[in-house]
Amino acid sequence: MGDNPRMSTQRRDTIAGGFTETASDYEGAVRYNLEGAQRMVLSIPPGRYDDVLDVGCGSGWAAQAVIDRFHPARVTGVDPSEGMLEQFQAKVGSIECVEVSLVQAGVEDMPVEPESFDLVVCSMAYHWFQRRWDAAEAMARAMRPGGVVAILCSGKGGEQAYRDVIADVEPINYAWLGAFDGNLRDIGEMEGYLVGAGLEPIDIWMERRVRHVPVEQYMERMRVVAGHIIGDPSDPDVAAWLGRVEQKMRERSGPRGWTYDFVKLYAVARKPG
Ligand SMILES: C[S@@+](CC[C@H](N)C(=O)[O-])C[C@H]1O[C@@H](n2cnc3c(N)ncnc32)[C@H](O)[C@@H]1O
Repeated sequence: MGDNPRMSTQRRDTIAGGFTETASDYEGAVRYNLEGAQRMVLSIPPGRYDDVLDVGCGSGWAAQAVIDRFHPARVTGVDPSEGMLEQFQAKVGSIECVEVSLVQAGVEDMPVEPESFDLVVCSMAYHWFQRRWDAAEAMARAMRPGGVVAILCSGKGGEQAYRDVIADVEPINYAWLGAFDGNLRDIGEMEGYLVGAGLEPIDIWMERRVRHVPVEQYMERMRVVAGHIIGDPSDPDVAAWLGRVEQKMRERSGPRGWTYDFVKLYAVARKPG
């Protein structure tokens, strides 16, 4: 956990506030997101993409991968979390030969010019959007005809071992349990969002990983990405609940640590024209 809690005006029980609270710990805790963003960008059809929009841009891993591969002229990062935008600016803002703009907003009502982007990327953020049909439409609106969108998000079928643990720890955290059902999506659902927004899917696929990690590493990842749901770990009730979760995970761990599976859902689509 970072030593210096940020002074932010965002409430930590909102998605944006939760990510702001943990923004400086994000890259250390969620390093697999970097590799996912790189694979997502590798799956974009070759082409020239001068104007790029990174939605739910976070600390900038997807934008960085796009810049490395396509050398765009301009990149715009959209994210409601002020802490994540600061991380993005610190990393992507210092790259030469690309003009960087930041927009603090949610995808659904992002104030960006319609039909002004050749490429929209959205890495590990779509599962946090509360209005997914609107999100797909907003991204499609921002794209020029012929433009491409690439999405990576959490897919259905992962994290079952952890879900079983938190279903077994009292008091039951219904918000956290339900968040998995709300977040995890399948290929058909993603296809529906894209087609509903007038886009033509090029490819949609899932990958499933089984990983073995120390319990504390997994707990840290959850703290960083879901702080707005889990609550403030300095609150004694939350700390006690987390202690019971950790204890149960240790009981269910094997010689290689905590075993969990994670499913990633990828999609690439084009706007007709
Ligand atoms: C897990 S991080 C992913 C960050 C980065 N794209 C990456 O690949 O590492 C999810 C990001 O989505 C942002 N987010 C949450 N709700 C959003 C919304 N409605 N619109 C846009 N971004 C949102 C969060 O603030 C956070 O920065």
